[in-house]
Amino acid sequence: MLESSLGPCHFVIFGATGNLSSIKLLPALYHLECAGRLHDDLRFIAFSRRDWSQDDWLEHMLLVLQEQAGDRFERAAYDRFAARFDYVMGDLNDDQAYVRLMDELSKPRMGSCENIVFYLAIRPADFGNVIVHLDKIGINRQHGRHRIVVEKPFGEDIESARLLNIKLHKYFGEEQIFRIDHYLGKETVQNLLVFRFANYLIEPIWNRNYVDHVQITVAENKGIGTRAGYYDKAGALRDMLQNHLMQLMTVVAMEPPATLDADALRDEKVKVLRSIRAIPRDAVNAFAFRAQYTDGVVDGQPVAGYQSESGVAEHSTTETFVAAKFYIDNWRWRGVPFYLRTGKAMARPMSSIAIRFRHPPQQLFRETPLESIDPNWIVLSIQPQECMHIELHAKRPGLGMDTRLVQLNASYRETDEVALDAYETLLLDVIEGDRSLFIRFDEVEWAWRVVDPLLRHWAQEREFIHTYPAGSWGPQEANRLFDSEDHDWRNSI
Ligand code: BG6
Repeated sequence: MLESSLGPCHFVIFGATGNLSSIKLLPALYHLECAGRLHDDLRFIAFSRRDWSQDDWLEHMLLVLQEQAGDRFERAAYDRFAARFDYVMGDLNDDQAYVRLMDELSKPRMGSCENIVFYLAIRPADFGNVIVHLDKIGINRQHGRHRIVVEKPFGEDIESARLLNIKLHKYFGEEQIFRIDHYLGKETVQNLLVFRFANYLIEPIWNRNYVDHVQITVAENKGIGTRAGYYDKAGALRDMLQNHLMQLMTVVAMEPPATLDADALRDEKVKVLRSIRAIPRDAVNAFAFRAQYTDGVVDGQPVAGYQSESGVAEHSTTETFVAAKFYIDNWRWRGVPFYLRTGKAMARPMSSIAIRFRHPPQQLFRETPLESIDPNWIVLSIQPQECMHIELHAKRPGLGMDTRLVQLNASYRETDEVALDAYETLLLDVIEGDRSLFIRFDEVEWAWRVVDPLLRHWAQEREFIHTYPAGSWGPQEANRLFDSEDHDWRNSI
């Protein structure tokens, strides 16, 4: 067994029976168990309002993990994992529930532990309640050792994000707060750091002199499922663009950090966010576009439009697709458009970062007119394929001197190498107290500042939203963001 750098740990999951816990947290923790990465003394407390016994909880967790792990389910590892859990029933508003939690943490068999993680896998609206109650029982006060994990979205705009931060800081020190954006835990995203900063040949061309534009796409083919309660208030801008896509953009655009320390990395990311050109309130439509899916066909199956999803407000104008253009006004990137787009119920799942390079300055190969020579691309595919792809020109075989595009593909993973889920990396970091892949508040604040004009503008346009059929790549009108006629969305690797 590996030693955690902070020693024995107790890990409390608030919202243990909820969606996030079942889909992400429990499977990731269980995989860490299978890999022998959990400290022997690590214990979990599952906290939820369901009136369940310990046996009910274990039965639920077994079903969840069997379903999620599929072929990777191992009974012996599950038994070890289940033996770490205690179930505490309680309402998040109820003082007594926290007394029961404290009793559970103080039981002799829990051993002595000064290292407790509180994971808020609950609605953001309930964060405040839990924080205040943890303070009431005095369990938050061990700076550095007791940690609180909050999931995005951090607030719903710049003001509410600041209020949430003030509340968090009233009871927890910054070094205790772990703000999760799970995109930073994806191996392919960490690979972007390696690709940029471990390959010397990339650095000289990674700037405005060579790069024509950058596209970042996170397309999902699923709709909103059962999450209308949250999603209809959030929309794609708050749910994805302000956090996951902007984080990807910072990793593409940042300068090399002095070290890989948490603060050195985050300092560089903040500099990128601070350099993003502000979008004028009266020019939002030139920089951003939103739309909503209607009935369509995804993967050969009919899919009902957003308005028919259960829980969506009548005539909702919440966007399920958003595209935006940003300029980073610094020495490296000034004048290079970064196009970001994300959507639900799109044609295929595809997340990628595509960098298009400029045309060469001279037409040497007369057989192939310059305007028909495709430019070079580097595409870093995040999911579902995890690969790097480079497009270059080579001579077409034959007597003529004309060119054709060749594609160099490198899969990021060998066939026998198992893919890690982002949460596996991030949860281990939380347990071990490493904050490099977590978000600092100034990153959150600057990202809200960038999207604020869009939020305000759309909040006033409540009557109309563009639409796209489920199963498409979004509306054609989104192309109006492009700076040049030869720019187009790249819908494949
Ligand atoms: C979440 C969003 O943060 O990320 C979801 O709330 C989205 O709406 C999900 O589906 C996408 O994550 P992944 O890892 O499946 O790309």
